[in-house]
Amino acid sequence: MSALVISALDQAAPARRLADKLGAPFAELEIHRFPDGESLVRASQASATTIIYDSLDRPNGKLIELMLAASALRDLGAARLVLVAPYLCYMRQDKAFEPGQAISQRVIGRLLAERFDRIVSISPHLHRVSSLDTVFPGAETTSLSAAPLLAKLIQADGDPADVLIVGPDSESRPSAEAVARELSAPFVVLSKVRESDRNVSSKLDEKWLAPGRAAYIVDDVASTGNTIAAAASVLKAAGASRIEAAVAHALLSGKDLRRLRAAGVERLRSTDSVLHPTNAIESAPLLAGALRGEIE
Ligand code: R5P
Repeated sequence: MSALVISALDQAAPARRLADKLGAPFAELEIHRFPDGESLVRASQASATTIIYDSLDRPNGKLIELMLAASALRDLGAARLVLVAPYLCYMRQDKAFEPGQAISQRVIGRLLAERFDRIVSISPHLHRVSSLDTVFPGAETTSLSAAPLLAKLIQADGDPADVLIVGPDSESRPSAEAVARELSAPFVVLSKVRESDRNVSSKLDEKWLAPGRAAYIVDDVASTGNTIAAAASVLKAAGASRIEAAVAHALLSGKDLRRLRAAGVERLRSTDSVLHPTNAIESAPLLAGALRGEIE
């Protein structure tokens, strides 16, 4: 029997696109939200292998509903549960930075690993913990790179030899390097100092930027957009002719987007891993490539 692709929450459109790519049946989970804030989750069908699609932006409520969905699907006979979470939450707190802090990545990682046989994601924010296998002990994991998708967007704009790919901080180096490699374009990584969630400054250490060159800032995630805004200010001062940004996951608000434009970023584009006004490329083909084995 083929796998079912199920949209757990409010992302039926990308989940359906994935089901279409896989030629797999699609069924939406039903969610009822009680007046007191609790959720009731109902699954109508499951197959031996069942895929739940649930991108985990705005994660706190979604995680509870995901736990309930996993339980309902197990009860209906799903022996193998695959979680497709194009955006994975709680990745940044991978250690206690100050005494007493919860290591959220470890807590949420175990919670999901206990319920899912396999977890598939796109460009997860891995830093000090470098592998999803460590985040999700005992589960199979697949970490897909968004670099080919972002490179495709930039390539469509013209000759990539004329652009500079910019990683806004050391953590973005793998993403920036991978996109630059795909395009055979030069890249540079800025140094960033983060003073708080919203207060960020950047520095261009190398005298790299040829004046008149278009700069594309590439990162895995834009949360508030402040990292990209700080990078844009530096690039503007260094003489970039045009500044754009491309990220795997866009989480920022409309107000943050406007601030980004005011900082000189002409355009921010993202994959549809998180539904957002900046979505410019579908992730279904990438995800389908990794999931084909589940339905054969
Ligand atoms: C950080 O290390 C990440 O790669 C991103 O640069 C960061 O999370 C973006 O956050 P924000 O958009 O809030 O600056």
